This record gives sequence, C-alpha cells and structure tokens, in this order.
Amino acid sequence: MATERTLSIIKPDAVAKNVIGEIVTRFEKADLKVVAAKMIHLSREQAEGFYAEHKERPFFGALVEFMTSGPVVVQVLEGDNAIALNRELMGATNPKEAAAGTIRADFASSIDANAVHGSDSPASAEREVAYFFSADEICPR
Ligand code: PPS
Repeated sequence: MATERTLSIIKPDAVAKNVIGEIVTRFEKADLKVVAAKMIHLSREQAEGFYAEHKERPFFGALVEFMTSGPVVVQVLEGDNAIALNRELMGATNPKEAAAGTIRADFASSIDANAVHGSDSPASAEREVAYFFSADEICPR
C-alpha cells in the first residue's frame, strides 16, 4: 500500500464542542500520523478559494458562512492509504447516513455542521495540502 498525505479539517462545530483531541485520537489509533497542524480562523476569501469547485452549488454560501464562523484545525495526515482511510474514519457527508462509530456519526450535528473535512482524491489532497501548508511546515516522521 502507498504512503499518502491527505488534508484534514476539524470544522468549527467540532472545535466548539471541544472534541479536537477525540478526533485526533481516531486518526492516531488508525495509524495516521499528524505531520503538520495549525488552528486558524478562515477568512471569507480563504474559504471561498478552498471550496471553489462547489461555487455553483446551492449550499455554497451556507458552507462558506459556516466554515468562517469559528476557528478550525487544519492538519496533514500521513499513512498507508491515508486519503481513503481518513474518508472511512469520517463517515458519510450527512451524519444521518454515517456508519456507527465514524467521526461524523459521533460528533456531527447536520449535513452542514459535519465536524470534519477530508481530501477525496490524490489530486485534491495535493491541492488542499498546498493550500494551507508550505513544504517547510510539514514534518515527515
Ligand atoms: S463530499 O464530501 O465532497 O463528497 O460531499 P459533497 O456532497 O460533494 O459536499 C461538498 C462539501 O459541501 C458540504 N455540504 C454542505 N454544506 C452546507 N449545506 C449543505 N446542504 C451541504 N451539502 C454538502 C459538505 O459537507 C462538503 O464539505 P467538505 O468540507 O468537503 O466535507
């Protein structure tokens, strides 16, 4: 299996619920390593740029509003099959459809306040990691 990197965001709802540590523990228990991390409060411009591929979707405004409503934790996770593994740990976008034991089933409140983001492909992961981190902010270990 290939070692990959993926971008994870712990969204404002999960930060407000004070479950950053519980979410990171899920990653670590699944053998994903945090190789970069920071807490930031996204500006409107940053959120719009990050989600640019969704700008024609009806929920775009609500998504940007939510993602700028409070601080987030952005992280680079590294490990075997990291992109798919992180998506599996997260569960379905809509927490009502998320499998039991997944992060969204346990911590998300709604389809918009859904606790976490994870890159969905190698191309997205590359773009998203570079969106938030310069090469010298990533610490392979
Ligand atoms: S996904 O995870 O990319 O396959 O999901 P997708 O359905 O394409 O949704 C893309 C992101 O938009 C968020 N989303 C919404 N926000 C607000 N309201 C509604 N109705 C809604 N539906 C989807 C969803 O959480 C995805 O955000 P990220 O950060 O990529 O997980």
